Amino acid sequence: MEKEGTEIVEETEQMIDQKEPENPVSAVVDSKEMRAVVLTGFGGLNKLKVTKKPMPEPQEGEVKIRVKACGLNFLDLMVRQGNIDNPPKTPLVPGFECSGIVESVGENTTGFEIGDRVMAFVNYNAWAEVVCTPLDFVYKIPDDMTFPEAAAFSLNFVAAYMMLFEVANLQEGMSVLVHSAGGGVGQAVAQLCSTVPNVTVFGTASPFKHEAIKHSVTHLFDRNLDYVPEVKKISPEGVDIVLDCLSGENTGKGLTLLKPMGTYILYGSSNMVTGETKSFFSFAKSWWQVEKVNPVKLYEENKVMAGFSLLNLLFKQGGCSRVKTAVQKLLSLYDQKKIKPIVDSLWALEEVKEAMQRIHDRGNIGKLILDVEKSPTPLMANDSTETSEAGEEEEEQEGDNDNKERMPFIQ
Ligand SMILES: NC(=O)c1ccc[n+]([C@@H]2O[C@H](COP(=O)([O-])OP(=O)(O)OC[C@H]3O[C@@H](n4cnc5c(N)ncnc54)[C@H](OP(=O)(O)O)[C@@H]3O)[C@@H](O)[C@H]2O)c1
Repeated sequence: MEKEGTEIVEETEQMIDQKEPENPVSAVVDSKEMRAVVLTGFGGLNKLKVTKKPMPEPQEGEVKIRVKACGLNFLDLMVRQGNIDNPPKTPLVPGFECSGIVESVGENTTGFEIGDRVMAFVNYNAWAEVVCTPLDFVYKIPDDMTFPEAAAFSLNFVAAYMMLFEVANLQEGMSVLVHSAGGGVGQAVAQLCSTVPNVTVFGTASPFKHEAIKHSVTHLFDRNLDYVPEVKKISPEGVDIVLDCLSGENTGKGLTLLKPMGTYILYGSSNMVTGETKSFFSFAKSWWQVEKVNPVKLYEENKVMAGFSLLNLLFKQGGCSRVKTAVQKLLSLYDQKKIKPIVDSLWALEEVKEAMQRIHDRGNIGKLILDVEKSPTPLMANDSTETSEAGEEEEEQEGDNDNKERMPFIQ
């Protein structure tokens, strides 16, 4: 067990001036401490700190991983805000996925050797230099898969795969509607659809992304427009699968668009995030709209309404063997060069606030990665006059450094 009282909280900005060791990994291998991102309480970006925590050691059946890269997901913004069901107590180390090298294994842990290159799911605690997680959540990665790619792979591709192939039974010639088509899950959905012949993909995204992602989907719509008439102009009978991460009013629209025997899957509620801190109004509006769905209409119209949560399946519902099968199929598609995770940008742990801000600002195309060995880039004076959507609901005054910005390392 980690002792909370032994934590030494270091402000992000203080760490910027520290000289990085020439080889950060070997320099800390024997250390009794490690760096981690800590969420000190639910709220805005200022609740995130880089902290030294006691080094975790693997328990029976666990694998200890020297982390190289961590995935930053939209869900992490919602966790930061406390915008999830039954949020755990803070302080906590956020993050649900990482990639790295096996450093040791606990008792009765078979199948992994020290030095194996792996990716893993973690039930929180992923944003750290070292992570311990049960072996059922750890997967070896191919030699040619980079650590950032591996950290961009697990959550997005497994969720996309299970929704398309296990819940909705995607077949040749079908059509799929996906929101946030330029994001981590959106790009995984687009790539997986391209592995099946003649699948039509309708996507919505912010207009500035259209040029960059137009090749990945068949039809792309401005997320600000009403996409229902646009889809109907092209396909009057509607679509076979709707993947909806914008619960609320989109649920009704999605069900309207479904062909008979079509499947609507609700898997997220990005639209509940309207600013840097939790909005109770968006929360209430979203759930009120979802609850208005009439189940009798579903059977009359021959429509399937489903929900999907990969993390609940993994961590609460004993679904790790199903997930392992999906990972194996996905790794085979990767080996055949049919899919490849898209990394938007790499950020140091100390840059986690800026990285999250990029998602709030809808700036990402593909996945944001926290690169554990990356040194933070120096802060630059912010000459931007744009106000971010996230900034509109600031909860607390930020320090001087919040008037500055860093440039991400774009891959
Ligand atoms: N159920 C599951 O198992 C599961 C697994 C993974 C992810 N998810 C969900 O899938 C969705 C996508 O996840 P992701 O990690 O891949 O994120 P992502 O799509 O990369 O998220 C960023 C993008 O979301 C769009 N967006 C929509 N509403 C937004 C808002 N209120 N604020 C900022 N951006 C918003 C923006 O794209 P545009 O402006 O272009 O629309 C933005 O660039 C999320 O809702 C997430 O919770 C669910």
